Amino acid sequence: MTHVYGNILGLIGHTPLVKLNRVTNDISATVYAKLESCNPGHSTKDRIALHIIEAAEKKGLLKHGSTIVETTSGNTGFSIAMVSIIKGYQCILAVSDKTKAEKIAYLKALGATVYICPANVAPDDPRSYYEVAKKIAAETPDSIYINQYFNELNIDAHYQSTGPEIWEQTEGKITHLIACTGTGGTLSGSAKFLKEKNPDIKIIGVDASGSILKGFHETGTINHSDIHPYQIEGMGKNLIPSALLFDKIDEFIRVNDELSAHRTREIALKEGIMGGYTTGAVVQGLLQYATTHEFSKEDVVVVIFPDHGSRYITKVYSDEWMTEQGFMNNDVLNDEKVFKTEVIK
Ligand SMILES: Cc1ncc(COP(=O)(O)O)c(C=O)c1O
Repeated sequence: MTHVYGNILGLIGHTPLVKLNRVTNDISATVYAKLESCNPGHSTKDRIALHIIEAAEKKGLLKHGSTIVETTSGNTGFSIAMVSIIKGYQCILAVSDKTKAEKIAYLKALGATVYICPANVAPDDPRSYYEVAKKIAAETPDSIYINQYFNELNIDAHYQSTGPEIWEQTEGKITHLIACTGTGGTLSGSAKFLKEKNPDIKIIGVDASGSILKGFHETGTINHSDIHPYQIEGMGKNLIPSALLFDKIDEFIRVNDELSAHRTREIALKEGIMGGYTTGAVVQGLLQYATTHEFSKEDVVVVIFPDHGSRYITKVYSDEWMTEQGFMNNDVLNDEKVFKTEVIK
């Protein structure tokens, strides 16, 4: 029997590379997207959830009924909840009260206990989701705190899986890897592996306008004036994660909410790939990079598409949301920007 698995976790990893044929037409290189939405939890975070939990098992830190704690309302939460179900652990997630009800419903559907914490308090306030998660982890026997921003196993998960997969899938021909950075784990772990194979591979990080990561890479200091609120979820940060190996990254590109949103919609319309907001951001980053760097026909570029667009139906894929943001007035992409609906009465 082929493609038959003992449980859902057997489907984690080995995601496909798909050639982009339209959105990157102006670039002479061949561009492949690594579709992390093909993981069973629909994102790249399945890899780190499984890797970190199995590492804790190997160390004897977990037994049946143990508790896994994390601060996330995003993809990592879904992945930890899924892994916990299969392995028989409790999953506790501390999230901010800004989290949309549909996300909380999703996490609860996967059996997670969700603590909703006020967003407008300092990180060291005992009510903040960081402090709540830390306290639960400290007080719960046999529990582990995933702590993805400061856990080197986040890097290791991608060093052991994503990097080798990309190397094999491109038969060692990859010349450029480009990915959005949140914790930095995906790009850092993949880059560490790929640079060991071929130090000439260019590693490009994509940061959000409003985040400090690009500025820190260039100056080694945190520029507080870089910080402002932004809409793209999952990338950029206002602190420096230790899961981001800055020395493995050759260059950072900064992208904004508006162009990334339009690019996400364009990818769906032109490639038939419904990705999350950072899918648009990474392609936007590549196109901006291409304005200052020449690609050749022999270049093989891999872009990471981190998750699935179904989580963003009420955001980038909603004309109402786009209009509220003021993104629909501007002729940014000179292309189809409004999804068509016809109501038959
Ligand atoms: C949608 C999305 N894109 C990109 C990233 C960035 O991945 P990493 O944390 O490995 O840098 C994340 C991380 O949370 C994410 O949720």
